[in-house]
Amino acid sequence: MKKIVIATLAAGAMVVSLAACSQGGSTGGGDGEAAGSGQLVGVAMPTKSSERWIQDGDAVKEQLEAEGYKVDLQYAEDDIPTQVSQIENMITKGAEALIIASIDGTTLTQVLQDAADAEIPVIAYDRLIRDTENVSYYASFDNYKVGVQQATSVLNGLGLTDLEGEPVDGAPAGPFNIEMFAGSPDDNNATFFWDGAQDTLKPFIDAGTLVVKSGQTSFEQAATLRWDGETAQKRMENILTSTYSDGSKVNGVLSPYDGISRGIISALTDAGYTTGDEWPIISGQDAEIDSVKAIANSGEQFATIFKDTRKLATAAVEMTIAVLNDDEPEVNNTEDYDNGKFVVPSYLLDSQIVVKDNVNEVLVESGYWTEEEIG
Ligand code: BGC
Repeated sequence: MKKIVIATLAAGAMVVSLAACSQGGSTGGGDGEAAGSGQLVGVAMPTKSSERWIQDGDAVKEQLEAEGYKVDLQYAEDDIPTQVSQIENMITKGAEALIIASIDGTTLTQVLQDAADAEIPVIAYDRLIRDTENVSYYASFDNYKVGVQQATSVLNGLGLTDLEGEPVDGAPAGPFNIEMFAGSPDDNNATFFWDGAQDTLKPFIDAGTLVVKSGQTSFEQAATLRWDGETAQKRMENILTSTYSDGSKVNGVLSPYDGISRGIISALTDAGYTTGDEWPIISGQDAEIDSVKAIANSGEQFATIFKDTRKLATAAVEMTIAVLNDDEPEVNNTEDYDNGKFVVPSYLLDSQIVVKDNVNEVLVESGYWTEEEIG
């Protein structure tokens, strides 16, 4: 037990400053007394190839440093052994807590046993870490709801519902051809997104309003290892060749992530689709800048899901500080995230659908992107 009285005393002031910071949606700081006293926190992120994780890592680091902690922030370029050895290094360097966004949620059992042996608490960041008792808490978004929102955005783009998912008067009868993509099968979030989306699309598929023309309706068929855009592009190319060479058109594509959406867009462009009436409705996730531009400007992407990485960082940082001070962090879900060993107590944040009409309101007014960046 390395706890010192000063850290505990300072914790009160610090929790207040972080709470203020999360309400204001700012990226850290706070004017309370720093509580960290130089304790080291290890932060393991999956990859820099997707911009969201850079924003996550920066926000977590900035907020922890503002509270007086030292931070070892590492990215593993989606390579599992690299992530494992980065976490081993953090343990060796004396990290007193770990915040981990895993690449494959099932591969950290041994290294987290080492963390537990050294009494280091672990916060699972955004992605649940599976098959271990050695994770203390989970900070994420309501991932099932993200999937509902992704499907709802496709329904909305096709004129079938409003953005709340309510049916609209005079909706077209269809049938509309859709294709569906899922995320990486080793990421626990991918099935949550898929399940939320499938439950939302099912009534329309059952009614014949939506037709998955390729017949590829299972998660296994739709999954995209490592969320890789090129993998998605190849699958879309294959579907266009196998299913749409008869001159029929794909009208909507369920995509779980902006990088996958961009792969799908490339496949469509290469196959001769042009933006305008025949261009399909495509969903996404993460509000990455290139996709926001495609929504606001070119119209190649219809929607994305905004998950405010600054707020997720705040939630994870608050949890970490509470655990380091032997306090109980705030959680709001103790049911849904069973990691195969136990239900991990979770704090889940809300997400928002972004379409052309609300880009300004959701992304610019919140300070996530500037008008100049969006162009
Ligand atoms: C995250 C998504 C992200 C995806 C690919 C998921 O675990 O929740 O926000 O789009 O990984 O990086």
